[in-house]
Amino acid sequence: MKLNPILDQLGAYPIAMIQERAHTLASQGVNVIDFSIGDPREPTPQFIPDALKAAVPEVSQYPLTGGRTELRESIASYLGRRFGVDIDPGTQVMPTSGSKEAVFSSPLAFIDRDADQSVVYGSPGYPIYERGALFAGAQVDPITLSGDFVLRAGDGSDEQWSRARMVWICTPHNPTGAVTSPTELADLVERARDSDTLLMSDECYADVYEEDAHPGGPGSVLQHAGPGAEGVLAFFSCSKRSGMTGYRSGAMVGDADAIAALKRLRTATGTASPDFVQMAAAAAWGDDAHAAERRAIFAKKRATLRPAFESLGMKVVASTAGLYMWVSVADDLAATDQLLEAGIVVSPGRFFGGGGEGYLRLALVPTVAECEQAVSAIKEALS
Ligand SMILES: Cc1ncc(COP(=O)(O)O)c(C=O)c1O
Repeated sequence: MKLNPILDQLGAYPIAMIQERAHTLASQGVNVIDFSIGDPREPTPQFIPDALKAAVPEVSQYPLTGGRTELRESIASYLGRRFGVDIDPGTQVMPTSGSKEAVFSSPLAFIDRDADQSVVYGSPGYPIYERGALFAGAQVDPITLSGDFVLRAGDGSDEQWSRARMVWICTPHNPTGAVTSPTELADLVERARDSDTLLMSDECYADVYEEDAHPGGPGSVLQHAGPGAEGVLAFFSCSKRSGMTGYRSGAMVGDADAIAALKRLRTATGTASPDFVQMAAAAAWGDDAHAAERRAIFAKKRATLRPAFESLGMKVVASTAGLYMWVSVADDLAATDQLLEAGIVVSPGRFFGGGGEGYLRLALVPTVAECEQAVSAIKEALS
């Protein structure tokens, strides 16, 4: 069948190939502990499914593209508590069906495929920035990250920034767990505005962080965008904060004109969470205690695994927030294979783009007990 050539070129989502091998090993009786996909297994706090069930209506009707008022208000109120920003729930918040579809589809609202426009993002990075850009007809222009894996305003040439219709940043960063500092965020806002490019900040891991490294939590681009957040959009998600990956609920927040354009786009595609999911999400954004409990669990997993790699002389880089540990190794493909044979499934850094070679990514998804079990297998496989 003739396909969109972009679909052909992208091929399979690379982690799927590793997962297939893991399934084969499991079927052969190997005890597999899977750190490859960022889908945590801690139960969703009970008040969230309760809110969902209570909101299932007798008559089912289409959800509104702009989302329910209760949800937009709950998100704005969360952003006020968490970041001290004043967001208008009526014009600056767009609930989404998870943040992945929003990251993928939002370039469709802003890219002119007949103009020579690009989308800039850091590499290694979340693969959807590239995929969304390509399907929208933009050129892709990744900037290779290294060192501390933070994409800064000083990275990239003037020509790159002025050609860019949008620049993606991600903080806390997938795959490295790096965090962009407040000064760096302010500089990015300034350079994006000077270059007339949209700054898109993926902050879906904002509430998963090491408290010692980030007292009060990593900052948001919204804190530096000023009233109205001109030219700036931040992306949030219930997935990791609240253990709601299966619910599909997130939000885009920022520039009201950009949100209005996205609303027009999304009315065309009919992409919106069901109302009962939105009511569950409204409850989740309204509570911070469960997010703190989850944060402590991920910190425990990191504290369990970090010494295993360090005892082997391997450096754990960035990795102070988000769901991931980013470990420096001599050869990421070889190390992935060695670990896989021992039942430990990780992702080679190169799967997240150029610049990821020589690193492993571990998604802190297995339980604390499984992480403890994994320590000896990791040490044995890599020593
Ligand atoms: C950086 C980043 N952004 C966005 C997402 C999408 O998350 P969701 O669609 O569950 O909100 C992910 C998921 O792993 C991610 O790693």
